[in-house]
Amino acid sequence: MARITAGVGCSHVPAIGVAMDTNITEQDYWKPVFNGFEFSRQWMKDNKPDVVFLVYNDHCTVFDASCIPTFALGCAAEFPPADEGWGPRPVPVVKNHQKMASHIAQSLVLDEFDITIMNEMEVDHGLTVPMSVMFGDHGVDDEWPCPVIPLAVNVVQYPAPLGRRCYNLGKAVRRAIESYGEDLNVVIFGTGGMSHQLQAERAGLINSDWDKRFLDLLTEDPVAASEITHLEYLRETGSEGIEMVMWHVMRGALNDDVREVHRHYHVPASNTAVGHIILENI
Ligand code: DHB
Ligand code: FE
Repeated sequence: MARITAGVGCSHVPAIGVAMDTNITEQDYWKPVFNGFEFSRQWMKDNKPDVVFLVYNDHCTVFDASCIPTFALGCAAEFPPADEGWGPRPVPVVKNHQKMASHIAQSLVLDEFDITIMNEMEVDHGLTVPMSVMFGDHGVDDEWPCPVIPLAVNVVQYPAPLGRRCYNLGKAVRRAIESYGEDLNVVIFGTGGMSHQLQAERAGLINSDWDKRFLDLLTEDPVAASEITHLEYLRETGSEGIEMVMWHVMRGALNDDVREVHRHYHVPASNTAVGHIILENI
């Protein structure tokens, strides 16, 4: 039986990817951002997931206003890095675990989560940046250390799903994975956030106190964390802070009791607070 052993929460700030791609991670501005991922890269090597289930959001790269799936599961054989305006990032094509992805698609739909099935999809910084920070530098001709099953959540066009819905989806993802016959170690990523607003009057907003309380609550009281309203995200964490609903899918897929083995919080990276956490099931 496959099992989820741990969850990773991780920001996806695009400039972090650019810093890696242009080899400036040692600069004073970036060094503290990347120092906080050294533990995580070693943890990834030590814990060797067979599969990563990665919850992320697309930023109008694949989905635009013509089609807005709330939850879209990647079922294609592979997912090339998308061109977001400056050419695709020089990172490997993401390979799927297609058999497990189809099983999860079936299990979720029969479990009343009507996800969209993506048989062709490129992936933007929402997915590639968390891969880069957690697995380190891998070039275009290289491969990521394990297959990845992507789940795209709409947090860009109103209405985004509630945190509670995401949390319950996480529980359904767990049921799906645990009913997959092969003995595989799965690590689930919830990505995006932390507080940030990229546009209009409050552009540049960062709320560190709120972000840190969110990380505490996510570890200690995931149900209460999942009840945080859209209005609170918007008011306290800016218009793009709503990306944090994706972390509840990750948390919902874990046990109620988890061990927080690592936390990293740093301001600023571009316009955003960087937040990162590793939770192990106990
Ligand atoms: C930034 C953050 C994001 O989450 C994003 O999708 C794009 C840009 C930023 O802080 O620059
Ligand atoms: Fe984003």
